[in-house]
Amino acid sequence: MSRIAYVNGQYVRHADAAVHVEDRGYQFADGVYEVCEVWNGNLVDVPRHLDRLGRSLSELRIDWPMARSAVNFVLHQVVRRNRVRDGLVYIQVTRGVSRRDHFFPPEGVAPSIVVTARASSAAAAAAQAEEGIAVVSYPENRWPRVDIKTVALLPNVLAKQNARENGGKEAWYVDAAGFVTEGGSTNAWIVTKEGVLVTRPAEDRILRGITRAVVLEIIKKEGLTFEERPFSLEEAFNAKEAFVTAATTVVMPVTRLDGKMIGNGHPGSVASRLRELFHTATDLRVV
Ligand code: PDD
Repeated sequence: MSRIAYVNGQYVRHADAAVHVEDRGYQFADGVYEVCEVWNGNLVDVPRHLDRLGRSLSELRIDWPMARSAVNFVLHQVVRRNRVRDGLVYIQVTRGVSRRDHFFPPEGVAPSIVVTARASSAAAAAAQAEEGIAVVSYPENRWPRVDIKTVALLPNVLAKQNARENGGKEAWYVDAAGFVTEGGSTNAWIVTKEGVLVTRPAEDRILRGITRAVVLEIIKKEGLTFEERPFSLEEAFNAKEAFVTAATTVVMPVTRLDGKMIGNGHPGSVASRLRELFHTATDLRVV
């Protein structure tokens, strides 16, 4: 079975899928995206992802490429046509195709839309969560509007590649004051020695993660103690646990930071429990 992608109104073989060389996403990173988890044959938290997509589009004054309900339909179709049971679905919308010019294109240029899906191994993810991941800190160097989920991810690419070259799977951005903002493609959390969960407020130079929001709901329901406040790299080194959240990782324990062990160097019980509970709190739509 060949993979299928959706490109501007058509389902095409993934191998043949293409956008125009003058697509503004290609030339200016003038576009936004979303990644939804596909879990056990369900699309996870699509309404929230579409809400955030709508917000990103409106912040950049890009129109919806088609009705929100049509986007929702295509997401499900692409997952189904690729027979993805566990994996992710990716949607990208750009300002469209127009002669290269920094100014917005003339009236009537339609936004471009691409949707792809791909399977991943639930067993491999579970094994990774049993082991935990290493994280490498990196100076925050992104623009202030990281609340918009744009495809302009070069700083994230460089931070994550640096992490990889230093034995890590994720980067943690650290701002000028020494506080962790978030990961290269995840939100960052710690659990203090006193058992308090800490994550940076969503309004404060981070992306408002959907996974983060769901985890906060679980924390409240379980009656766990938490604080939404910035934490420093120093505090993270001394934490009992650390973890990251994203649609691609769900809740992933962090066991090393800059080569130093967090806690006892094994995934913590709080992170593992939150990972276990995660899909009981999500909005699941059967594909
Ligand atoms: N990344 N922060 C950043 C910078 C991100 O890129 C992401 C998601 C998150 C977590 O958001 P959510 O919980 O809604 O997935 C936080 C996606 C998965 C990616 O770029 O692949």
